[in-house]
Amino acid sequence: MELFDCMRNAPTTRRFSAEPVSRETLLDVLEHARFAPSGGNRQGWRVIAVTQAERRRALRDLYLPHWRAYLEQTGGARMLAEPEGFDPVRVRMLKRADEYANHLDKVPLHLVVGVRIADLAITDAELDRLSIVGGASVYPFVQNILLGLRAHGLGAALTTLLVPAEKQVKELLGIPDDIALAAYIGVGHRAEAWPERLSRNPPQQFAFAERWGEPLASD
Ligand SMILES: Cc1cc2nc3c(=O)[nH]c(=O)nc-3n(C[C@H](O)[C@H](O)[C@H](O)COP(=O)(O)O)c2cc1C
Repeated sequence: MELFDCMRNAPTTRRFSAEPVSRETLLDVLEHARFAPSGGNRQGWRVIAVTQAERRRALRDLYLPHWRAYLEQTGGARMLAEPEGFDPVRVRMLKRADEYANHLDKVPLHLVVGVRIADLAITDAELDRLSIVGGASVYPFVQNILLGLRAHGLGAALTTLLVPAEKQVKELLGIPDDIALAAYIGVGHRAEAWPERLSRNPPQQFAFAERWGEPLASD
């Protein structure tokens, strides 16, 4: 696929067939993803590819409590229990995400992405707000993985809800102390057709020229 086609059509895939993902394909994706930028070109990202059934089950068990807590905290649990009156698109997405979480162990390939904390230059650490910059040296790499998988016709779901279980995940997978978890990507062959188009806001809504609020694109 062409790059722009991949960028426009790499949706979250939450239903997968049982077909495994070949190591050769994964290595090809990583071979290209590694050209992502990182602060000081430190390339602190690390990836563990998990396919072994027992480990996938263990990862599901670590993920599920945090997914359920997220559903409770965001009102999603109520939406799922009594969907009437809520936006049907959002309800459908939550249902799919819930199904994905409950069947995570069936997803053929799990990518656990971490980053070496010493390789992060966190330039907003002193600001009086949440730090955003810490992730900037790993998420371009994660996005490259998603695009590379799409180019190979593979589906993927990026989530971050394994990160709260970092301590147990590190024990399970033997990850050293100096690594922080950044992302958890379920990968496989998509079990349904790709969507025609993704729902995203146009540049008019988020891009400005010279000063905030000055339109960059004409309507
Ligand atoms: C940081 C981040 C966290 C996400 N966490 C979850 C998650 O926990 N569960 C899930 O099913 N999808 C998760 N997603 C996927 C989003 O729900 C998805 O990107 C968004 O709804 C757009 O869906 P689409 O790409 O299929 O149009 C996450 C995406 C990002 C970027």
